[in-house]
Amino acid sequence: MKKKKKFFQYVKQYKWSNIFSMVRNNRLSPKICKEDFTEKLVVITGATSGIGYYTARKYAAHGATILCVNRNIQKSEKLCREIENEFGVKCSYKIADLSNLKDIYRVTDELSNIKTPIDVMIHNAGIYLTKRELTSDGIEKVFVIQYLSSFIINFILLDKLKSQEKARVIMVNSEGHRFAAWGLRLDDLNWEKRRYSGLKSYGSAKIAQLLSMMVFNEHIQNTGVTINSMHPGAVKTDTGQENGPVYLWFKRNFIDKTLKSPEISAEALYYLGVSKEVEAVSGKFFNLTTEEEPAPPALDKEVAVELWNKSIELAGL
Ligand SMILES: NC(=O)c1ccc[n+]([C@@H]2O[C@H](COP(=O)([O-])OP(=O)(O)OC[C@H]3O[C@@H](n4cnc5c(N)ncnc54)[C@H](OP(=O)(O)O)[C@@H]3O)[C@@H](O)[C@H]2O)c1
Repeated sequence: MKKKKKFFQYVKQYKWSNIFSMVRNNRLSPKICKEDFTEKLVVITGATSGIGYYTARKYAAHGATILCVNRNIQKSEKLCREIENEFGVKCSYKIADLSNLKDIYRVTDELSNIKTPIDVMIHNAGIYLTKRELTSDGIEKVFVIQYLSSFIINFILLDKLKSQEKARVIMVNSEGHRFAAWGLRLDDLNWEKRRYSGLKSYGSAKIAQLLSMMVFNEHIQNTGVTINSMHPGAVKTDTGQENGPVYLWFKRNFIDKTLKSPEISAEALYYLGVSKEVEAVSGKFFNLTTEEEPAPPALDKEVAVELWNKSIELAGL
């Protein structure tokens, strides 16, 4: 369908009631899950800071075994020693730069070969860039880290997860997907035809992740595997550290002052990964732990299928 036609199609689908729900949900606290998760395995990408860090601690506090996929060895060592000393559980890590296709494939292969079940797989690693950057594979960086890495991992891991007959995949998405109000431009994923902006590229990558969730959800019907996405709240983390001094100054002096603690994100990610209340729920978007309808471009089945094929091609799967 033509780009203009798509845009008008989405405009017609927007509902004020959804925006009001989002505003209302943004004020809610996450539901709490008090059950333990002893010796269950949770894999978390990007656990060295912010939301991933607090989530690893939350699962560890309930007895889970932690396996992180991080890019920094020193931070990973520090995190695992801290978790093991404090909670007496096993914590290990795999090093991978999730902007690099070779690393993504290697680590996915390693995850596929784990002999025990992966009970919860949390895709959390992410970045926010104010300036366009391409990866060594020639793909826009935010798109790869925020979306393509989770796509490849899910795609390859699917057989293992299905064979377990029980697993939950959770993708840390964002209300920021709404920044891509016009939808995903599959003909310009590298932002060569349009002016790049941090909010737009971030929104597009998050829309892509929500679209992929729709298709993955079809592939896992009646398998015991679930896949959901969530907004982790507006929380104070290290996000955006790669950007210039003006952005960092603005973040420190304005944005950070309005943000909550990432402990609420961890609480929500624990609930979505463990609570029996959401055991059979799949293919949904949550604002923390409240189910919410995403923006119309994130529900476009036609684009979801096109993106699926394009992702397979881009990733060389
Ligand atoms: N903070 C918010 O308010 C908010 C709101 C909505 C959604 N989110 C989402 O929440 C997720 C976590 O973000 P955060 O706010 O917690 O930010 P953060 O503190 O910057 O944490 C990001 C994590 O991702 C890792 N990471 C970044 N690039 C990577 C790469 N190329 N390979 C492997 N790991 C990489 C970072 O590793 P290093 O420690 O090595 O940098 C870090 O562990 C992101 O997906 C973000 O979009 C956050």
